[in-house]
Amino acid sequence: MDSPLRVAVLLGSTRDGRFGPVVANWFRAHLDRRDDMTADLIDLVETPLPTVFPVLGQPPAAEEHVELLSAVSPRLAAADAFVIVTPEYNRSFPASLKNAIDWHNREWNAKPVGFVAYGGFSAGLRAVEQLRLVMAELHAVTVRDAVGLQAPWAQIGHDGAAANPGADAAAKAMLDQLAWWGHALREARAARPYGV
Ligand SMILES: Cc1cc2nc3c(=O)[nH]c(=O)nc-3n(C[C@H](O)[C@H](O)[C@H](O)COP(=O)(O)O)c2cc1C
Repeated sequence: MDSPLRVAVLLGSTRDGRFGPVVANWFRAHLDRRDDMTADLIDLVETPLPTVFPVLGQPPAAEEHVELLSAVSPRLAAADAFVIVTPEYNRSFPASLKNAIDWHNREWNAKPVGFVAYGGFSAGLRAVEQLRLVMAELHAVTVRDAVGLQAPWAQIGHDGAAANPGADAAAKAMLDQLAWWGHALREARAARPYGV
């Protein structure tokens, strides 16, 4: 059997009192039950990134910026696939998440991305649709099915259990697609490094 896919789970919300960790931990349990994937949860509260960028094409000059990036960038580079856990903020995704995405480029290239979104009425799906555009620019492949949780506080308990079995089914469907693309693209990158 192929070695397990390394899946970086990027938790995009950094708000005080956020619900994001409950969603991320519920989803992480799905990954932990699979033998074809390993998970690395990147929480942007634990590993914040600078918001001031260097001159385009140049590395960051500030030592503290280099240090902050070193806690995130190698983990994205090592990943075979990504899952972005995002709330919807003002019909889009949070600025903290865009900042983390924009700090990187080659780390995303030719890799699949799945989404676990949550929010109010829209279940976070408007954030997902905007993220698909962003990830296309970064030569990443977004998988068709996303997990969308409407009012997740009524669906996922702090114990990590989903009150709605549809949420578990959606997580499995998305991960099955991510697995197919993850293996296919890992083999393709090994055979023909992506540099287009
Ligand atoms: C600044 C802000 C804007 C929001 N905008 C939307 C929105 O446009 N659509 C929506 O369905 N929910 C919206 N919400 C509700 C959030 O999706 C919901 O509170 C979610 O739990 C936020 O994620 P977090 O708790 O991890 O920060 C918004 C929340 C905040 C804080």
